Amino acid sequence: MVPVTKRIILDCDPGHDDAIAILLALGCPDIELAAITTVAGNQTLEKTTLNARRVCTVAGAYDVPIYAGCWRPLARPQVTAAEVHGASGLDGPAFGEPAVPVQQEPAVDYLVRTLMAEGDAITLVPTGPLTNVATALRREPKIARRTREVVLMGGAYTRGNRTPAAEFNMLADPEAAAAVFAAGWPLTMVGLDLTHQAIATSEVTGRIRALDTDVSRMVTALLDFYGASYRRSGIPGAGDGPPVHDPCAVARVARPGLMAVQDAFVAVETQGEWTAGMTVTDFRGILGRPPNAKVATTLDAAAFWDLVVDALQAVGAPSAGPAAGREDAAGGGPAASGGPPAAEAAGGPAGNG
Ligand code: BDR
Ligand code: CA
Repeated sequence: MVPVTKRIILDCDPGHDDAIAILLALGCPDIELAAITTVAGNQTLEKTTLNARRVCTVAGAYDVPIYAGCWRPLARPQVTAAEVHGASGLDGPAFGEPAVPVQQEPAVDYLVRTLMAEGDAITLVPTGPLTNVATALRREPKIARRTREVVLMGGAYTRGNRTPAAEFNMLADPEAAAAVFAAGWPLTMVGLDLTHQAIATSEVTGRIRALDTDVSRMVTALLDFYGASYRRSGIPGAGDGPPVHDPCAVARVARPGLMAVQDAFVAVETQGEWTAGMTVTDFRGILGRPPNAKVATTLDAAAFWDLVVDALQAVGAPSAGPAAGREDAAGGGPAASGGPPAAEAAGGPAGNG
């Protein structure tokens, strides 16, 4: 059977697991990565955008446009996840200057324009706070009817990670998450209950290390740092290796059969004193609301890691381009000079508009 390629936009906040999600999207034959949009989350927008450019540079992905999005949540002070991802948001590997530029058009403009024009052929894959997506919905609510599907990493139906109730991406911008879950588009929630089955064990890391490419060396360094963060965190199960959340959403698009899903009504708590960002998941219909999401429950972890390792091997092929840590890797356009991302440069606190 010939696999049907899925065209995706990856809306992310790299972030160690976002970086692996980018690489999976680049290397998986079932996925066509139309664009990367960045959002503040694991670190500031400036850092997450730089990190997306760094990862694409190491991967040799010079033709995937990167758009910078919102620099702060819709209604709350910014929270980051520096305790997991470090001061840069992507601590671990040594990176040279990025050779992939950031586009001038703000991410929200790109999302609205593209989803209105060709959304029926696009799956939107958010793996960070949902600020860009909610802002696009505010700007043009019709994107909810135009977009083929949203498959997001975020939420949980048992317990959170950033608070007892909330997963980080939901906690970082609960108002945005609530709007995205309420928008009425086909939506799949790939939350912590699923992603904690995607553990980068020492066996997995060994397979990645054995690929022995610039990409595999970058990923191994990322997993070393990320694994140490998780060991410090004391999260149950993290002793065997860290859960690698964000690639699970890409994997769901590439190979839907890799995970079981269950229909549910999901509401995001925005009022609770202790529960902001909680994804209240009603599998049993107790609230009398129709389901608005498919919720991922069980992962075929062995097949997931085969998919990831194969993708890393494909994207890390010798023809991939400049290497991580090579100071002579620059040369890309004006944005490679380290200036502010376009959305910030274009209007200060705007970019959230
Ligand atoms: C999510 O939070 C971030 O730190 C990760 O990149 C992932 O998207 C997991 O809770
Ligand atoms: Ca993320």
